[in-house]
Amino acid sequence: MNLHRFERIWLIFGMGSLILFLAIIGFAAFWKGTHPQSHIETIDPKNVEAYEDFQPENLGLTEVEDGKYVVNVVASAFNYDLGKDENGDAVRKISVPKGSKVLFQVTTTDVVHGFQVAGTNVNMMVEPGHISRFEATMKKSGEYTVVCNEYCGVGHHLMFSTVEVYD
Ligand code: CUA
Repeated sequence: MNLHRFERIWLIFGMGSLILFLAIIGFAAFWKGTHPQSHIETIDPKNVEAYEDFQPENLGLTEVEDGKYVVNVVASAFNYDLGKDENGDAVRKISVPKGSKVLFQVTTTDVVHGFQVAGTNVNMMVEPGHISRFEATMKKSGEYTVVCNEYCGVGHHLMFSTVEVYD
């Protein structure tokens, strides 16, 4: 079979990009652990308290063992519920030491929201009926803004929170 030179170049280019894209997907999925939310476990968005981790007293930051934390968050228009502090005020910021492993568990009671800790690789879509989980190691100190990156209504731009990583 005789292939024109340009045809051969295009074939190599086409197959090369396909292999490259599959390699990127494989890297993200198997190396970086990026997966869509599991469908094995679902949650009733109208009754998230039925799930222990999302009961009001379990929201926010908990140290589960030395250097390991869990952060439970209930997202709703237009707020991230991180529980209440000892004065009864809504928690707007969580603080963890540098190098800690933090498992974020987020669900929503209404529409689709985003949960992105800007400047880190924590970036999840939060869908009603599902629990979004991502474990990250906070390697760099600083203040990170948690933003909603899925348009969820008129107050979308007001939906944020803060994660502080201290030395
Ligand atoms: Cu929540 Cu946009």
